Amino acid sequence: MTAHYMSTNDIRRSFLDYFESEGHARVPSAPLVPQNDPTLMFVNAGMVPFKNVFTGLETRPYVTATSSQKCVRAGGKHNDLDNVGYTARHHTFFEMLGNFSFGQYFKDQAITHAWTLLTKVWGLPADRLTVTVYHTDDEAFELWQRIAGLPDDRIIRIATADNFWTMGDSGPCGPCSEIFYDHGDHIPGGPPGSPDEDGDRFVEIWNLVFMQYEQLDNQIVGDLPKPSIDTGMGLERVAAVLQGVHDNYDTDTFKALIAASGALTGTATTGDNQASHRIIADHLRTSGFLVADGVLPANEGRGYVLRRIMRRAMRHAHLLGAKEPLMHRLVPALIAEMGAAYPELLRAQASIESTLLQEEKQFRRTLTNGLRLLDEATADMSAGDTLPGETAFKLYDTFGFPYDLTEDALRGLDMHIDRAGFDTAMAEQKRAARAAWKGSGAKASDDIWFDIAEQSGGTEFLGYSATAGEGQVVALVKDGARVEHATTGDSVSIVVNQTPFYGESGGQVGDTGMIANDEGLRANVTETSKQLGRIFVHHARVDAGGIKVGDTVKLQIDVARRDQIRANHSATHLLHEALRQRLGLHVAQKGSLVAPDRLRFDFSQPTGIDPARIGEIEADVNHHIRANSPVSTRLMTPDEAIKEGAMALFGEKYGDEVRVVSMGTDGDNTYSLELCGGTHVTALGDIGLFKVVGESAVSSGVRRIEALTGEAARQYLASRDEKLRETAATLKSTPDEVPARVAALVEDRRRLERELAEAKKALALGGSGGGAGAMPAGPEQINGVNFVGQVLNDFDAKGLRGAVDEAKQRIGSGIAVMVAVNDGRASIAVGVSADLIATYNAVDLLRVAVAVLGGQGGGGRPDMAQGGGPEGTKADEALAAIRATLTP
Ligand code: ALA
Repeated sequence: MTAHYMSTNDIRRSFLDYFESEGHARVPSAPLVPQNDPTLMFVNAGMVPFKNVFTGLETRPYVTATSSQKCVRAGGKHNDLDNVGYTARHHTFFEMLGNFSFGQYFKDQAITHAWTLLTKVWGLPADRLTVTVYHTDDEAFELWQRIAGLPDDRIIRIATADNFWTMGDSGPCGPCSEIFYDHGDHIPGGPPGSPDEDGDRFVEIWNLVFMQYEQLDNQIVGDLPKPSIDTGMGLERVAAVLQGVHDNYDTDTFKALIAASGALTGTATTGDNQASHRIIADHLRTSGFLVADGVLPANEGRGYVLRRIMRRAMRHAHLLGAKEPLMHRLVPALIAEMGAAYPELLRAQASIESTLLQEEKQFRRTLTNGLRLLDEATADMSAGDTLPGETAFKLYDTFGFPYDLTEDALRGLDMHIDRAGFDTAMAEQKRAARAAWKGSGAKASDDIWFDIAEQSGGTEFLGYSATAGEGQVVALVKDGARVEHATTGDSVSIVVNQTPFYGESGGQVGDTGMIANDEGLRANVTETSKQLGRIFVHHARVDAGGIKVGDTVKLQIDVARRDQIRANHSATHLLHEALRQRLGLHVAQKGSLVAPDRLRFDFSQPTGIDPARIGEIEADVNHHIRANSPVSTRLMTPDEAIKEGAMALFGEKYGDEVRVVSMGTDGDNTYSLELCGGTHVTALGDIGLFKVVGESAVSSGVRRIEALTGEAARQYLASRDEKLRETAATLKSTPDEVPARVAALVEDRRRLERELAEAKKALALGGSGGGAGAMPAGPEQINGVNFVGQVLNDFDAKGLRGAVDEAKQRIGSGIAVMVAVNDGRASIAVGVSADLIATYNAVDLLRVAVAVLGGQGGGGRPDMAQGGGPEGTKADEALAAIRATLTP
């Protein structure tokens, strides 16, 4: 039987179909950023996503599985970057086909499946296949004899680590058996285990791992719960075999990508250009898949590995003579080849293209000058020489050449770099940065954060796409000092290498949540801050267990709280644009607070904003929320972002690149475009509802709007509604009628007040004796004289004299006395009609009363006298004293 040609896509499908028909669950590839191992930079083998299933930590609804797993080997322990382009089988991105048994079948079945698929399904000639087994694994040896009928000399015992597979220092492991394909004697090389095994004739295509043990720190510490199977077959290698070629780059997928790069650059793809095209094709795949999985170019961590890969390809595009950015134009070819198998590429197409374009534009700005410097530096050097480390550092620091890019550029000249010199220059730059920071008046405590940053690099933030993750503890700080461990009851600041917790910045508050592990640690994170712009610090209280530097921990943010923060942050952007459109372009952000329960936005605006305007602004924001368009994020240079119309904070210092967040549409344009490092909703509908609850002045020329979103806004409206309902009930009315009813009540009240004032006056004038409220009565007769005596409570003393005059007029001839009591004090007026002044003197009568009231003096004329005293409660007694004077 001979092998029949299959495309790479056919091979992948055929592999998965075969194992699915054999009862294996078809599991989609996990993302390239490991979800369950913080020490691993990228997923680099098919078994990585199943690590915890092998060790029994996790169970899945299946016991056998098959997958085609995306893998990246660049950065970290497995780093193939340097070789890519110059060999037949090195890639930074590759696909690993695998079948897995979690305690279900073991060696026998694994070998049967492998042999059946290779020789029966795919028709590979048995005489081209050679296998290896671990030197002590007699069982595997015998199975290969029995199942495959292989002669003893093609079952090779290997004693080295090559046939004992471990995923790292820790994790599941076991002896393995590798299957090699013999490409034929026209290619130099010997079988595995032979002195010339490093030749290219025998190529390993499939590794069957008999998972049996668990390792911890390089020591076997026990058996797995059940013997299991993990296999890995490099798709690119087996495609070469099935397509009858020796070189992975001659398979259909690579040929198509290389043809596209040849066509777009108008260059031959062979000869001197071969390595460049291969590098471009390989790095295009890696960059595309990493961006699709949420990694963006950055200056640390995964983002820096991506940047190195991108720039390496971009230098080769430049070498090929590409005058314009090239990489983004190759994305359609990548999607044509791989988009069907990996729909994430299709979904992320725009983002992959814009990320590549942005990076290539940015890099091209310094590329030519950097290459000129490199040419000058190497002009006097010859093969075998070493480039000074300082030059490599200048290329890195000033021209954006990652170290390995310079290494790659020197490779063709057979020159090297003085690594130690490079490291010294880097260390010197860090020292200078720290000195400059301190010179700017930083706190002494910042030293701790500098130390941590220099030792471990910045924290990688996972929180744009994840709310949970794992991290490795790189530092603990307690009471202002670094410690190695913390225990129950401690308050401690925890720094990990990567985290989903947002560190407070840009107005957005930090996340809260939980840091835990399987050994019982529970640390409650009450606040997350950011130091030196790159170290995320989790301020936590250890509620249970302990934590030490080096531990792997699980990090879980409070998702509901973060969702509210996201909604408030995105609403702030919409509000900003609505304010600019409704009030004018003078509106510029002066500050903001984005918390879970509310948002606050301060902006330049000379005058208060009337409620109708606020209503319009609120309606604009809600209109965009309901349109529910997706929110997108891109990286750009600050200049480009501002050219596109992004709103930046004036006077703010931005780095080489910025995140640009766009949301909403306005005709053909984006509604809001802002430079922002915060976390946002994925689609505007997630904000739910937007309600302004306050507008006020902060300082001269700066106004503040406070607002709520989502559930908080709903609760605010519901509570307002409830108050309206209560009001309506009190009024025995309906909410709709409340305004008219209240207006009527206010009018009624005014009328009643008026009437009351009049009634009081009438009462005062017409009544007698017993004070205000009593009906006016006719005058008393005392010794033949008409007498009116009245106590007026709460009666304005200014009206006293008028009241006495009126009473005198009413009675014609007689004596009238009025006592007004206000705040406990009494004022008194006494009037005597003209016909009686010969007999009675008003001043004398007044004195009698004032004495009773505890006052002094008072006076007037014989017909009218006025005075007062502090003892208002004695008003009636004062009247009685006057009556007594009149009585004979
Ligand atoms: N885990 C094994 C490998 O990566 C299959 O080779």
